Amino acid sequence: MEIVAARPAPDPPRHVAIIMDGNGRWALNHALPRAEGHRRGASAVRQTVRACVELGIRYLTLFAFSSENWKRPKGEVQTLMDLLRFYLKSEIEELERNGVRLRVIGDRDGLDRDIQNLILFAEQRTEGNARLNLTIALNYGGRREILAAVEAMIRSAVAGKLDPGCVNEQKFEEGLETHGLPDPDLLIRTSGECRLSNFLLWQCAYSEFVFTQTLWPDFGKAELLSAIEEFHQRERRYGGTRG
Ligand code: IPE
Ligand code: IPE
Ligand code: MG
Repeated sequence: MEIVAARPAPDPPRHVAIIMDGNGRWALNHALPRAEGHRRGASAVRQTVRACVELGIRYLTLFAFSSENWKRPKGEVQTLMDLLRFYLKSEIEELERNGVRLRVIGDRDGLDRDIQNLILFAEQRTEGNARLNLTIALNYGGRREILAAVEAMIRSAVAGKLDPGCVNEQKFEEGLETHGLPDPDLLIRTSGECRLSNFLLWQCAYSEFVFTQTLWPDFGKAELLSAIEEFHQRERRYGGTRG
């Protein structure tokens, strides 16, 4: 009898980025206020972080609040900020226990001072952890991030510290807030919308996109595994040819 060795499971993607969308529609479907959708969304964050730790994913980046989300009604923005406060306080212990390092990207100066302090505290407290790098994008916009990196290069050039003839991708990336993180391998967006909404515009140049109909509050380990399975079916060519 021929023994066929089982094929080893492929490695999970190194960096998964998620546009967490659909909290409002989830609430509508359950005849609940939008705030309840956001609360359930926060619990989906917890499940997803746990699943990433379990699956050995090294980087997880979550889009939690865009630089355009200030356009929402004041009460909804308040709910989101209160949830953020709650998350930053209540999750630290578990993040610590699971070896999760938390970082925040986005314009934090635009957030309330107490939230800025909570972020700083969480980042410092988890800075020694290396199992999972969790990055939360808050008041984040990809175009603004790119412009800030351009501005940093122009300033360096004007100060005589950068030769404009030597500008390259690596130098540019030093000015991005994601500096030091690998580019996302897999980008997931929930709720059926198929757009980037200003998320990681530069970094997603070669990411594989998986769009799922699942609304964010219903997302968890099973949905993550199914997105990873789809990712493994893809052939990444980076402009080259097959194989
Ligand atoms: C995602 O859910 C949460 C944030 C963007 C902050 P939404 O609130 O966008 O949910 P929908 O798109 O209205 O269903
Ligand atoms: C994108 O979702 C932002 C976040 C998930 C934080 P939105 O719901 O704000 O995006 P649009 O408005 O549908 O493009
Ligand atoms: Mg939305």
